[in-house]
Amino acid sequence: MIKKIAVLTSGGDAPGMNAAVRAVIRSALAHGIEPYVVYNGYKGLIDDDVQLVDKKFTQDIINRGGTVIKSARLPEFKEVEYQKKAIETMKKHGIDALVGIGGDGTYKGLLALDKLGFPVIGLPGTIDNDIASTDFTIGFDTALNTICDCVDKIKDTSSSHQRCSVIEVMGRYCGDLAIFSGIAEAAELTITADHQIDENLIFTKLKAMHDKDKSHAIVIVSEHLLDVFDFAKRIEQETGFETRAEVLGRLQRGGTPTAQDRILASRLGAAAIDLLVNDITGRVVGMKKNMVVDYPIKQALNMERDVKKGLLRLIDMLA
Ligand code: ADP
Ligand code: F6P
Repeated sequence: MIKKIAVLTSGGDAPGMNAAVRAVIRSALAHGIEPYVVYNGYKGLIDDDVQLVDKKFTQDIINRGGTVIKSARLPEFKEVEYQKKAIETMKKHGIDALVGIGGDGTYKGLLALDKLGFPVIGLPGTIDNDIASTDFTIGFDTALNTICDCVDKIKDTSSSHQRCSVIEVMGRYCGDLAIFSGIAEAAELTITADHQIDENLIFTKLKAMHDKDKSHAIVIVSEHLLDVFDFAKRIEQETGFETRAEVLGRLQRGGTPTAQDRILASRLGAAAIDLLVNDITGRVVGMKKNMVVDYPIKQALNMERDVKKGLLRLIDMLA
């Protein structure tokens, strides 16, 4: 029977991580389980940065961006000696199970601990929406809304100056932030790994818009695909459209989580404890078709993300 659990956040922080931490702690308390927090992700397990917490710890954090228990990246955690040290730390505190909140890197760390026999559960916390075992990750909705807010503002000034704006959004190697914001912002062009557009076609379309005196053009691009500053110069040369580039960067990771992210985090956090109470471990929790689901970690890591063909069609049809 599980008596003590620990929770950590790892990898890039995401709005809603605090809501997930809160749900894990409060659900644990509701089941009579003692909750611990680990600061700085897996690093905190190596440094023994572990604290027993109570309900008060979770007050007024549901609406806070970032993660109050901090996050870190620890590449050395791939080494088994580090993983064993992490388990040693948890055993020293009498901790029976760990809930890790993060992306697929974090899931790989949990899988390693699971293979060494330590009970773990993973929750998807990343703005990237790049985890196949859930329809949406905690933080994606907030980041999407932040992007839309930024693009609305850029659109105002683009229209005033009759400019084209090339806007790079995050997502690591996943195009969802670009695809969803491209639709919500009615971007003239949206470029992602799954939706690459021939350069000449881009120039032809933008030139036609410019020649028709269109007040602005918004081009949304996923990170890691091209240099948006060079690309903006080329657009200007090839089309005559005065063009500026913006990299939205880490502002996409901050801010107050949306209600949707808070609710997602609360549902998944509670589900993690439900599994542990039933002695089910080595799994990750997610949301599919608005139902809470869970899968063995390895299966989740091997799942292929669907190409969102329906949304890609909308991008082309509605632009
Ligand atoms: P995310 O969890 O958002 O994908 P990272 O890829 O940076 O973020 O991974 C977070 C942390 O998970 C890493 O800093 C490392 O400590 C741990 N991790 C990543 N990959 C592995 C792995 N193959 N084995 C063990 N731990 C890993
Ligand atoms: O995984 C979240 C994320 O913000 C990605 O979208 C981005 O590629 C990466 O983290 C940036 O990480 P860092 O802030 O460590 O440079």
